[in-house]
Amino acid sequence: MLPVNHPISPRAGAVHAGDEAGSALEAFWARAAMSKLETKFALAREMTALPRLPIETLRAVLLQYRYFTRAFIADLAVLVARCPDGRLRSLLGQLVNEELGMGDPEEAHARLYDRFLESIGAIQPGQTPEQLDAAAHPKVSALLHQLGDRTLHRSALYAIGMRGLGGECVCGVYFGVMHVHLREHPFIVANEATIDWRFWDIHAGHADVEHNEQVRASVAELLERLGDGGAVEELAQGYDFGTATWDAFWTAVYREHDVQVS
Ligand SMILES: [Fe+2]
Repeated sequence: MLPVNHPISPRAGAVHAGDEAGSALEAFWARAAMSKLETKFALAREMTALPRLPIETLRAVLLQYRYFTRAFIADLAVLVARCPDGRLRSLLGQLVNEELGMGDPEEAHARLYDRFLESIGAIQPGQTPEQLDAAAHPKVSALLHQLGDRTLHRSALYAIGMRGLGGECVCGVYFGVMHVHLREHPFIVANEATIDWRFWDIHAGHADVEHNEQVRASVAELLERLGDGGAVEELAQGYDFGTATWDAFWTAVYREHDVQVS
């Protein structure tokens, strides 16, 4: 069983505090939308480097994202264990199910991403899971370890902000921008027909917008029940750490491969 620390429980009779939480939440979403936009602009500049990378470097950069997708699923499952009952908990449970391929491991998102990596030559046929695990960049492993640790040990709201919002929503922005520039790479263009695009079809599409709406509504419901203005602050702190980790991930990977951003 997973250790559950600092469980949060709904408080009764906090009607006025609930209004306060509502406006604090509005302010948080506005700030999150702004940081999402800023991320998009910064990334659009950074990711213009992708099509110019030697194919070996592009493969190495994309391989590192593999470890993020895998760690995300495990952390999401921990969020389900820690989240109070309600819409958000069910939604997170549903996300875990989808991530795992709803009963078919071949449809699991981590597997789909590996199939994409295999189809561009970033994973060699016959490479064992152990060999692949060993290929994680130490900085990437350290960042993922830190996320996993905080998902378990920080407050449940912090963990939800960090992994449910900071990891999920912002990661959608990365996917969208990355996908556009990735498809301009000469190797990718030349091999387009034989590349397995399933992972990207799922993650760089419109489903994301709908999904974000569901997350927002569920978080609002949870905070309404908690009726505590300070809860938004915890959520926001987790969110900030989640987005900063994404930034640190790309910085580490780009630096490692000496990618020059124009
Ligand atoms: Fe996914």
